Formats: sequence, C-alpha cells, structure tokens
Amino acid sequence: MCGVIGYIGYRNATDVILKGLSRLEYRGYDSAGVAVLADGEIETLKRQGKLAVLKEELDKHPIRGNTGIGHTRWATHGVPNDTNAHPHLDIHGCIAIVHNGIIENYQELKQALQKKGYKFASDTDSETIAHLVSSEYKGDLLEAVKKAAAKLKGSFAAAVIHKGEPGRIVGIRLDSPMVVGLGTNEFFIASDIPAILEYTKNVIYLENGEMVDISLAKGVSIYGLDGKERKKKAVTIKWDISQAEKGGYKHFMLKEIFEQPTVLHKIFGERIKKGNVVFDELAIKPAVFKKIKNIAVVACGTAYHAGLTGKYLLEKVTRIPVWVDQASEFRYRDPIVNKDTLVIVVSQSGETADTLAGLREAKRRGAKVLAICNVLGSTIAREADGVIYTHAGPEIAVASTKAYTAQIAIFQLLTYYIAKERGTVKGVDKGFLQGLKKIPHIMDEMLKEYEKENKISYYATKFHEYYHARNNKSCFLYLARNVNYPNALEGALKLKEISYICAEGYPAGEMKHGPIALIDENPWVVCLAIKSDTYDKMLSNIQEIKARDGIVIAVVSKGDKLAKEKSINYAMEVPVVPEIFSPFLVVVPLQLLAYYVGRAFGYDIDKPRNLAKSVTVE
Ligand code: G6P
Repeated sequence: MCGVIGYIGYRNATDVILKGLSRLEYRGYDSAGVAVLADGEIETLKRQGKLAVLKEELDKHPIRGNTGIGHTRWATHGVPNDTNAHPHLDIHGCIAIVHNGIIENYQELKQALQKKGYKFASDTDSETIAHLVSSEYKGDLLEAVKKAAAKLKGSFAAAVIHKGEPGRIVGIRLDSPMVVGLGTNEFFIASDIPAILEYTKNVIYLENGEMVDISLAKGVSIYGLDGKERKKKAVTIKWDISQAEKGGYKHFMLKEIFEQPTVLHKIFGERIKKGNVVFDELAIKPAVFKKIKNIAVVACGTAYHAGLTGKYLLEKVTRIPVWVDQASEFRYRDPIVNKDTLVIVVSQSGETADTLAGLREAKRRGAKVLAICNVLGSTIAREADGVIYTHAGPEIAVASTKAYTAQIAIFQLLTYYIAKERGTVKGVDKGFLQGLKKIPHIMDEMLKEYEKENKISYYATKFHEYYHARNNKSCFLYLARNVNYPNALEGALKLKEISYICAEGYPAGEMKHGPIALIDENPWVVCLAIKSDTYDKMLSNIQEIKARDGIVIAVVSKGDKLAKEKSINYAMEVPVVPEIFSPFLVVVPLQLLAYYVGRAFGYDIDKPRNLAKSVTVE
C-alpha cells in the first residue's frame, strides 16, 4: 500500500503535496518523495524514512512550482531506500510518475525496455511505468499513458507529469483507489480523500479502468482505457478530516480489527497455489527444513503470542520439538541453539531491538534464522537467512491486531510447508489448506454480526459501571487451554495496553495453583470455552469460578446452549471451525472487548500511554 498525490494550481505544489502525504502516511511510511515542475525542469527529492525526513530536507532545499506529484511508500518491490522511493523519472528526465500497487508483468516489460536502451535506476516495478510512458510519448501525455496502460498488468493507481506540459497531470486507476479533487483554479489527484480534504470537498471517484486528464487550461476529463470519454459527476464529501483518515472508523485499532478478513484472504490467496504452500521470497532451501531437529521461536509482545500459537501448530503437525522465548530473555540466557535448530524470529516492525539481538545471537551460534515480518526490507528481514512477509499492510494503532492474525496465518502455512517437506503431512493434507481458505469469509460474517448486535460494546459499558461501583477494584483474568491459551495472553495484553486495567492470562488448568485466590465478585474472568477437546475441562473451570461468585464472560461456540446454561454472565459467540483454526476467530472478540473497554474509559486507543509501536531500544 502506498499513498499517491498530485497538484496543479496557483499554490506551491510542494506544500500541498507534503500536507497531503502527511494524511496518507497511514498507507505507508518507509520513504517519501516529491517531483515538481520548476522552471521548465522536473525537480525531485526523495528520502528513505518517514515523511518528517523528507520535510526536513525540503526545508533545506525548497522546491517551488505549481505542478507536482508526491508519494509515500510501503515497499513491495525493492527495499526502502532513497533510490527506490518515488517519484520515478524516465531515462530523459522528462516524465515523472508516482505509483500505488503492483505491476505484475514488470520483469517482462523491463527486459523489453532494457533491450531498447532504457536504463533502470531502481529495483522497483514502478519505474517501468516511467520508461514505458516515455517510450510511447509522441507529444501528448494522455495518449502515451493510454498506450502504456494497454501493456501493463496488475493492480495500480498512478499519476504522471511531463516537463513539456506544465499544468497537466494524467492519472490512471486499475483496482487501486484514486480520487480527483476539484477546486477553484486548482486540481488534485490522490489515493484517498483526506489528502485533499483541506482544499476541496468536491471530488470525482475514478472507477477501475479509467484515466483522467487534469489540465489547468481545460479542466478535468475522464476516459476509459479504450480512449472514449466518460461523463462523470462530482460528489460532495461530508466527512471531517479525522474520520476520513481512518476510513470512517473511529480509531485505527477498530479499522485494523475489521481489516483482518481482507488481510487473511490476501495471505491465503498469495500463498496457497495449486494445493501447495508457496513462499516465493524464502531464501532458505527446503532441505534445511528436512534436517532441523528443533525449532526456537523468538519474539516480543503480541508477536511472542503468535509464536506461542505457532508452537502448538508446529508441534502438533510436524512433531518437531518447539520452544518459544521472549527475545529479551533468549538473548541473555545462554540458549541451547546450534546448527540443528531453526530459529524463527517474529516481528511486525522488523526493528524490535531485543528480537534483533536474539536473531544475531542465534546466528552466532550457528542456527538458521527465519524471520516472519510485516515491514519490507526491515533490519530483521534483511539480517535473517530467510524471510516470510505477512503482507498485512501498515499497522498504525499501537495495539497490534491484524499483524497478529497475519503472523498466525503464516505459522499455519509454515506448519503445512515444513510437514510436507518432511513427509509428515498426514490427516492435515488437502483439507487443511481448504479449511484455512474458508477462514477469512467466516471471520468477515462474524464481524458483520458483531457489528449488528453491538453486544461487546455493551459488555464493556457494563464493566465500566461495575469498575466504578466497586471503587476501581475490578480486574480481568483470561483463561484458556491448548491452542487458544496464547489467545488468553493476547486478550489480557490488549486490555492492559489500552484500558490500563490489570489483566492476567493463564492456562485454565493452572487456575487452581494461584489465580483462583483472586476470585470473588470483583474480577471479570474471560473464559475461552469453545467446543474442543478440552471443552469439558473449561466448563468445570467456569463452575469453579461461579461457585466463588466470579463474573464470567466467555467466548463460546455459536449455538452452544450448554455453555450458556453453565451460568455465563456474558457470552461472545464464534462460529464453529476445526480447533486448529480457531485461534483466528477466538481472538477477535477479545480484541473488540479490549477496544470497547478502552473506549468506555475514554482513553487514547491508538496511542496508549507509555507504549510505542516499535521498540528499538532495549
Ligand atoms: C511493542 C508494540 C507491540 C508489539 C511489540 C513487538 O511493544 O507495542 O504491539 O507486539 O512491540 O513488536 P514487533 O514489531 O517486533 O512485532
């Protein structure tokens, strides 16, 4: 995901573009750049890092002009660096482009262009567009873009300028979003409305397969890829900026919770091909997975919980012994790791200092290190022997949600992949992958139902009242067994992070060895009691809690009357799926519960106190 913006008008294009990019930064933030037509030449400035780095550079070396384009990047092809940052220029420096999406046939096009003498400066797929438009250019930018578009495959949105045609931007949309903003004597083009909302509320949404010719002299004209003009009406936007940035959601966290079905759908779509698991980018040879004798998973925070889930999956299916360490412990405890060990480091950001130190320690001891990362080209991804990307898109809320389920998805696929390499895929063969592919749809339906019922937000309000009625004495205990035990830890972590309420996660069987002493009428006990091999044991735990006046809030299988009869105070239902896939669904009501409790208390959900999204210090 990247953010694209373009401006023509009477203002300084650089200023408008920078402001717009700051509102698109949620779409990507590993590098940013601008290209502005200044005194008949295209001047560009691109910098790796957050937008602030580019801003600082532009303060030192201002670029002024009235036609320009800008970009904020979430790398897909080519690591984040200054060269791979957009805008990209054609070989003559006459054309500049910004692009969001993926050009699937870029290698083929690149080779053909290289044969014609076009030299590529970057490792991106996007640069192909600049050279392709250049090769088609005969004096009219719209014609050239149209001809280039006929050769491009993939999903993308792009904006293009030519130094010989000031006051003109040509845009194109194929699957990736694009809107055109209509001001007075000025025009805008952007990936999303917040980028231009400050200047205009009149917009035209481009549809798939549409091009737009924006010209100061002639206004806005929309065409199909066949070149036929389409008449379209502008609409007036009623949102305010803060809402729009979150795609209509009140917080990024809520948006990201609701994005999970899409993320999982994308992961399974990309990774399951012809009944097999495919990790295109993985540089570790399959033979390594055949030889390893044990697996160590090393991570922090939510990623550590995903690793714990991974242990259950990997051990159950591959029968390889797995242990999981918090990276801050692993790095100092002289771990028994050697060339027979596969160390899996898990990190959303790919920059967490302890996880990185754990990775280096593991390598030093001769282990092969596989990273599961979300951020492309991050340090952990680069230093590991092999990486599998989660492709969950930028996660903005500090409390991680979609990165967690994406990490679990990769563990599920990796489990199958390793088992297959070792010839141990039995009883989980074809049905396993087919079952996985159904999860995104099931999760989507579940979320729609939650939205309709609004039960979880009601429970949160009840807890808020309860907490104050008991002089702030209440707390939360999360209990679960087996593969959902890590979800108990994750649910408790989410609640702590954003509502600042004490919350403990425990294996339910351990309740009698300590946590049971906490139980009276004060704590709320979240029991993960879906239908499973340990279901009866969970029901017994619920009885033990009720016998001591505890309040039970339980995640139960849809339609489970038995669990309801066992005096559950509040129930959150999840659809029935094979237990091995249940962690995907069970965690969602826990994420929502934490979210709504935080909201009931009126806290800053997306930026909880004292926390950081990426912890790069020890
Ligand atoms: C911080 C974040 C957590 C995250 C943890 C590990 O504590 O607040 O949400 O789980 O770091 O981050 P990583 O980027 O390595 O997954």
